[in-house]
Amino acid sequence: MNQIVEQIEQYKKEIETLSIADAKDLEEYRIKWLGTKGIVKSLMGEMKNVAVEDKKAFGLIMNEFKQFAESRYDTAKEAGGATQEKKSSGIDSSLPGENLPLGSRHPISLMRNKMVEIFARLGFSVADGPEIEDDFHNFTALNLPEHHPARDMQDTFYIQQNPDWLLRTHTSNVQIHEMEKGKLPLRIVMPGRVYRNETVSARSHCFFHQIEGLYIDENVSFADLKQTLYFFVQEMYGKNIQVRFRPSYFPFTEPSAEMDIECLLCRGAGCSVCKRTGWLEILGCGMIHPNVLQNCGIDSEKYTGFAFGMGIERPTLQKYGISDIRLFSENDVRFLKQFTSAI
Ligand code: PHE
Repeated sequence: MNQIVEQIEQYKKEIETLSIADAKDLEEYRIKWLGTKGIVKSLMGEMKNVAVEDKKAFGLIMNEFKQFAESRYDTAKEAGGATQEKKSSGIDSSLPGENLPLGSRHPISLMRNKMVEIFARLGFSVADGPEIEDDFHNFTALNLPEHHPARDMQDTFYIQQNPDWLLRTHTSNVQIHEMEKGKLPLRIVMPGRVYRNETVSARSHCFFHQIEGLYIDENVSFADLKQTLYFFVQEMYGKNIQVRFRPSYFPFTEPSAEMDIECLLCRGAGCSVCKRTGWLEILGCGMIHPNVLQNCGIDSEKYTGFAFGMGIERPTLQKYGISDIRLFSENDVRFLKQFTSAI
């Protein structure tokens, strides 16, 4: 027993003075001292040769030696890991990371969100519909029978494979889809992209965006329509904005009107933006034609409603002082990244 204890003391000194410089030294150390055929294991095996009365003391000494050999291994491993990391990358992993650049919303989306949010305050919810449409939902159901001259008002893109299909010319098609669902009353706004066969220039494009509004219930009147639109323009352009309604014609509304606001640039004095009139046309509207209600299976004796449709591009151009509508669809990051906050 004494002999083994002495031997252990020597081993300890050997371990203390050992140098473990790299991964190879570390692995050699592990095999020699801690491996299955290593020194610690074989000393443990000596237990059977120790006298019964000494077994407890020997056990304690052995355990202590085992921990000693293991802790030397652990410290050498940690130190080696740290030096290796420093050498290989030079990265200080305790420094905070770089901020990722944030994207920004498209100006048309910002304007649409603002418009939707104003109507939401009056209880309007949002509905969506298809951009590829059939003739019925874009024209016929909206009281424009085939060969009706009003179809010429809108230059339509037809789809070659099927002459019944087209790219919707307005968001009014969503009115029809929503009315067909048969759930009344309806109070919705319908933003979306529309297409018209027009020459692309700084002022007009072959696709653009509209937001459509629809309100159907018993006893809805033209006064409700005007109040809704007054609220909208005051929230959008300020309480003192001057407004006028002009009689107009749409096949799907009767009576129909267009709404103008005072020119935001010259405040009514007349300038090039308002073509010297002092007014800017912002939307078309009217009371839903009874034929349209009937085309969708709604009792036009019981229900009445109003609808309006407004372009999104023009107010966005005015809001930000942008002079060319084509910028909205060119995906130039230098343009797009300038619009960072909600309107
Ligand atoms: N759809 C019409 C347009 O695109 C706008 C409109 C919508 C007019 C609803 C009246 C009612 O010009």
